[in-house]
Amino acid sequence: MDKLIVQGGGPLEGRIRVSGAKNAALPILMACLLAEGKVELGNVPRLRDIHTSLKLLEILGCKTSFDGNDVTSDAVALVPEAPYELVKTMRASVLCLGPLLARLREARVALPGGCAIGARPVDLHLKGLEKMGAKFELAEGYINGTCNGGLKGAHITFDFPTVGGTENLLMAASLAEGESILENAAREPEVEDLANFLNAMGAKITGQGTSVIRVEGVKSLKGCSYRVMPDRIEAGTYMCAAAITDGELLIEDCPYQELDAVSYKLREMGVWLEETDEGVLVRRDGPLVGTDVTTQPHPGFPTDMQAQFMVVMCMASGAGTIEEKIFENRFMHVQELARLGADIRLKGRTAMVRGGKPLFGAPVMASDLRASASLVIAGLAAEGKTEISRIYHLDRGYENIEAKLSGVGATIWREKE
Ligand code: UD1
Repeated sequence: MDKLIVQGGGPLEGRIRVSGAKNAALPILMACLLAEGKVELGNVPRLRDIHTSLKLLEILGCKTSFDGNDVTSDAVALVPEAPYELVKTMRASVLCLGPLLARLREARVALPGGCAIGARPVDLHLKGLEKMGAKFELAEGYINGTCNGGLKGAHITFDFPTVGGTENLLMAASLAEGESILENAAREPEVEDLANFLNAMGAKITGQGTSVIRVEGVKSLKGCSYRVMPDRIEAGTYMCAAAITDGELLIEDCPYQELDAVSYKLREMGVWLEETDEGVLVRRDGPLVGTDVTTQPHPGFPTDMQAQFMVVMCMASGAGTIEEKIFENRFMHVQELARLGADIRLKGRTAMVRGGKPLFGAPVMASDLRASASLVIAGLAAEGKTEISRIYHLDRGYENIEAKLSGVGATIWREKE
């Protein structure tokens, strides 16, 4: 297993480029199952979850290639089973359920287990697909789905604007017979990117990016070329890194308009953000001050930025609170940040941060993807050496993070444990 060593204390300065969005690429890869013909994707980040998705596509009967950041996929001979060995390593595998039902009228997908940040059930995915005519049985840890008469368009109102649920339903509805209306749908930009990709393949989707999405089912979808959107969470992570190290970064290929809630809060805390022709310029605009944050579905403050934002609050003077409303157990980074000297109290789903205390390097352990990112940026701001173990989590979501951070002045390297 690898660990990352960060020698902190210096400012980050220079240009840093954002990669393609993992959370857009994952559903888009699963949507390749729907196409008759070859799909070509650009700006696909080279991450562990992407390799896992390609492996899954191969198992499900696609021919794939991955060259640089370009992926091709051709669904030549589909089979309906997604095995546990793959699903257990990546929850997003469950996104093949909708496409398989739509194309094969059957699917056998391992039920994803719990994960570090909470129970994360898939009941809303199944409930929606049932409304479209699918029937499910749970046996031996697998979801066995069938829809003998084919999927039919349906009017579905989500109990909660689930990102994955909306994506699964969007893919299924694209090839269903008749019209589907998805209400209280997720408005995340990655859902919109998936819908735009499906439209490029010939789907008829309108309303993506709003909470009511309409899908007019079509008989078939064809191959196409598509460029995956840039990663807003990666960009937001670098914004936090610039602020806490008192540096100045120009973030290239930054999806700034998708980061409104994050940039609003950063400004409130004393960070200068400026959109230029070449990217978004980020630096401190004076001393950092504490604020309060509540995570919400998009366009609210993203849960995927919560851990990194906590580090900014640790470096700010005054107190602030972070309320986590999306996942019930997403505060595992708190105890690790405490090892670096942070003063954070947890009460239920709220963390109270008393900022302004210096951080000092220490050995810490990554527990999930965004928690790992928070420990890396905390290490950049801390005095001395921080050793982060279990960084395989980080490799699921940040392309070339050491190279990118080294390129803007960080002292960071990888070692075998
Ligand atoms: C996606 C993102 C993840 C992000 C999350 C919220 C991907 C691959 N992952 O995850 O990075 O943190 O959105 O922005 O895109 N829920 C149910 N039943 C369901 C589905 C969800 O109860 O059937 C609950 C979950 O347990 C969770 C909440 O709804 O508490 C949000 O989940 P959801 O929006 O579905 O997130 P994911 O698609 O899993």
